[in-house]
Amino acid sequence: TRPLKVALLGCGVVGSEVARIMTTTADDLAARIGAPVELAGIAVRRPGRPRPGAPEHLLTTDAEALVGRGDIDVVIEVVGGIEPSKSLILKAFEGGASVVSANKALLAKDGAELHAAAAAAGVDLYYEAAVAGAIPLLRPLRESLAGDKVNRVLGIVNGTTNFILDKMDSTGAGYSEALEEATALGYAEADPTADVEGFDAAAKAAILAGIAFHTKVTAADVYREGITEVTAADIASARQMGCVVKLLAICERAADGASVTARVHPAMIPLSHPLASVREAYNAVFVEAEAAGRLMFYGPGAGGAPTASAVLGDLVAVCRNKLNGATGPGDSVYAQLPAKAMDQVVTRY
Ligand code: HSE
Repeated sequence: TRPLKVALLGCGVVGSEVARIMTTTADDLAARIGAPVELAGIAVRRPGRPRPGAPEHLLTTDAEALVGRGDIDVVIEVVGGIEPSKSLILKAFEGGASVVSANKALLAKDGAELHAAAAAAGVDLYYEAAVAGAIPLLRPLRESLAGDKVNRVLGIVNGTTNFILDKMDSTGAGYSEALEEATALGYAEADPTADVEGFDAAAKAAILAGIAFHTKVTAADVYREGITEVTAADIASARQMGCVVKLLAICERAADGASVTARVHPAMIPLSHPLASVREAYNAVFVEAEAAGRLMFYGPGAGGAPTASAVLGDLVAVCRNKLNGATGPGDSVYAQLPAKAMDQVVTRY
């Protein structure tokens, strides 16, 4: 069988782990997919940086030429940000390549347009790694729960802020010290403002709400409040009341079924609640569905290897689809429920 050729865009914390796992487990991946997968090139901005696991001869600074070279089957985009990622993904579709992305900001803004472009080209767009790191969450929502009716998705979806709040609570560390540690461990975004101001969690909430409720929700529809105003004194008084402070993302279908809301804000969680024991950069998400009841998804929510695990799972899925001449489930937007931006938080959990 002809090898499937993969272009990797981005070789930072996540990309270098993807390259490492792809090269060290090539035989296993080939066996699971039914054909070998070959890393055809790795597009980077700064070629001089040390990248253990990424074969040097594959590095290029010309991402456009790599995507457009005509023989690429799958493009993995782990660059982040809106541009040039969006143009490169659209170019990949035009060339008949499927795309695996970890780009929450882009998916939360232009997901509908990208899904439409993938469908028009007859290829896949998968992005399990965009939400909650290693935790399988988007495919369970899109596939395993496709026959149920989801009413609520709620949880901790940002590892960096959970790490900061947990360190402040458990060790009395200061905010800046905890943020520095989260950055050094590879959890934070390139610009950690996205984490601490809640933009990252809001993007994830938009993606979750869109998939869970089969509607279109963008990051702009999500009420957002980060953790920068949370003080050591807030955390100490929460403790006195038997609570911890967590940054929550809450997506709900209105009781009358006519709209959805999504919001991100710090909340006090009683120590007896399972979310209170989510430590460090772990994430946990509850999904409430009519027939299934309440499900909990828990695991590492950030970091190179956990996020790479989700990327590689998607890679295997889209490669299998390619070999079968099929595509996986796309965007199932059939209900145009208005997403209500909330200017005021009424309920705090
Ligand atoms: N910066 C993100 C987080 C990475 O801390 O959760 C995973 O999306």
